Amino acid sequence: MSTSKSNKRTVLVTGATGGLGTAMCKKLYTDGYTVVGNYHTEEKAKKWMEQMKSEGYPIELFYGDVSDYESAGKMIANIEAKYGHIDTLVNNAGITRDGRLLNMKVEDWHAVINTNLNSVFNCTRQVIQGMIDRNFGRIINISSVNGQRGQFGQTNYSAAKAGMHGFTKSLSMEVAKYGVTVNTISPGYIGTDMVMAVPEKVLNQIVAQVPMGRLGGTHEVAHLVSFLASEETSFITGANYSINGGQHVY
Ligand code: CAA
Repeated sequence: MSTSKSNKRTVLVTGATGGLGTAMCKKLYTDGYTVVGNYHTEEKAKKWMEQMKSEGYPIELFYGDVSDYESAGKMIANIEAKYGHIDTLVNNAGITRDGRLLNMKVEDWHAVINTNLNSVFNCTRQVIQGMIDRNFGRIINISSVNGQRGQFGQTNYSAAKAGMHGFTKSLSMEVAKYGVTVNTISPGYIGTDMVMAVPEKVLNQIVAQVPMGRLGGTHEVAHLVSFLASEETSFITGANYSINGGQHVY
């Protein structure tokens, strides 16, 4: 059962029903934020809300295809109509369509770029003016270690995740003077369904390259998200936080 403190700030987590999204919602709720999530699949969303409520996290999900500008806009308008403004946006929604470029289908390239990178534009573009007007905002982009170092079989994913870094750095400069911070988190291999879908042999080889010798926990990433959402991180912007057990250091 969660014990929520009071905090007037509202956070939107995209891709809330996934492993990382769920952990972020729980942590932010526990830390006293008003938390709303985004979903894409109806049936999953209903079950998720019931489960979360039964665990003490009564968090509402809103439909939105974040890869589509209009759909993302409708979702944001629906959230604002019910909850008022959005103070913190966590761009977390993401998919993989792994495979060597040699075999990659055009639709697998576009699906990953649209869902993982264009979504960041689609959502951020439609909340940023309000953040500027209120002189407070937090944009937290969930990238990946594979956006920093590349990964065999992930030209689409690595390109999208690397693109998030450029977006973060540029936008952070544009909105710094309005009290809006923009940062990126780059998780390594975390124990989510997405990572567990990697063939076992390949995953074992990857974990063997992680100095900590294990997958990360979703709660470890969620903690960092809540930290960056806080008032006290007001001088941190344009930064990238690696959280990868030492897999990639630079
Ligand atoms: N480095 C070098 N060579 C490799 C390799 C690697 N990592 N992986 C495979 N190869 C080689 C193989 O040895 C083989 O060589 P030969 O033809 O000479 O024998 C060749 O590439 C083809 O191998 P496969 O038949 O396995 O290739 P495939 O195209 O069927 O599958 C793949 C490749 C789908 C990319 C598979 O290797 C894979 O799933 N890799 C994991 C990718 C990954 O890490 N995804 C992360 C998902 S989770 C996530 O993204 C979250 C996050 O942010 C971290």
